[in-house]
Amino acid sequence: MKYYKSKRNHIFYRNPMNQFEEWFLYAKDMGVMEPNAMIISTLSTDLHPSSRTVMLKAYDDRGFIFFTDCKSKKAQHIKNNPNVSLIFLWLELDRQIKIEGTAKKISLLEIFSYFSDKSGGMGSWINESGKFKARLILEKKFLDTLLHLKNSLVKFSNIICGYRVTPNMVEFWQGNEKTLYESFIYTKTDKGWNITS
Ligand SMILES: Cc1cc2nc3c(=O)[nH]c(=O)nc-3n(C[C@H](O)[C@H](O)[C@H](O)COP(=O)(O)O)c2cc1C
Repeated sequence: MKYYKSKRNHIFYRNPMNQFEEWFLYAKDMGVMEPNAMIISTLSTDLHPSSRTVMLKAYDDRGFIFFTDCKSKKAQHIKNNPNVSLIFLWLELDRQIKIEGTAKKISLLEIFSYFSDKSGGMGSWINESGKFKARLILEKKFLDTLLHLKNSLVKFSNIICGYRVTPNMVEFWQGNEKTLYESFIYTKTDKGWNITS
């Protein structure tokens, strides 16, 4: 079954990345300002949490991709402890998506190999399995920089690091006038995703 039906008859995808895509595209359609801005929290070696905003640059069936300075605090934190949390907050829609998972460096070659739409804006690619239409969310400027630098990829990838956050928990939270709020929590298990609402 591709879908999950809640007690209140709300239909959700069984896979949180499909559900993310549905909410994300809706947020874009509804004109939410910068729907790809997300807050990422990391932990220092002495377990002090630190949060900041980054831009989601792509997503696929494995997770959420962002870029950062390889020497940044967050990059150092992730090197020592890959456990991170992400928050997408779309106040205009009274919606929040909270993600817990692990961050892993991706190779820039991976991103280049996916390019199918060089027009900038919202591109898309079909990943290896062909099952999930993954999305690139690249501004024209960023895309141009990547393409310009692709010949000196090694040099570039020492400066800018890409990370994929693979979720093990995703909570979709919807504010609601009648019942105040509803939330759907996806938890990864050995058998797949368990959903509670
Ligand atoms: C709207 C917005 C988008 C941002 N996008 C990014 C980003 O995609 N990557 C990044 O490294 N920093 C981004 N920043 C800056 C980070 O929030 C942060 O200040 C910087 O990366 C240093 O963080 P750190 O020292 O904790 O690693 C953004 C900031 C804002 C306000």
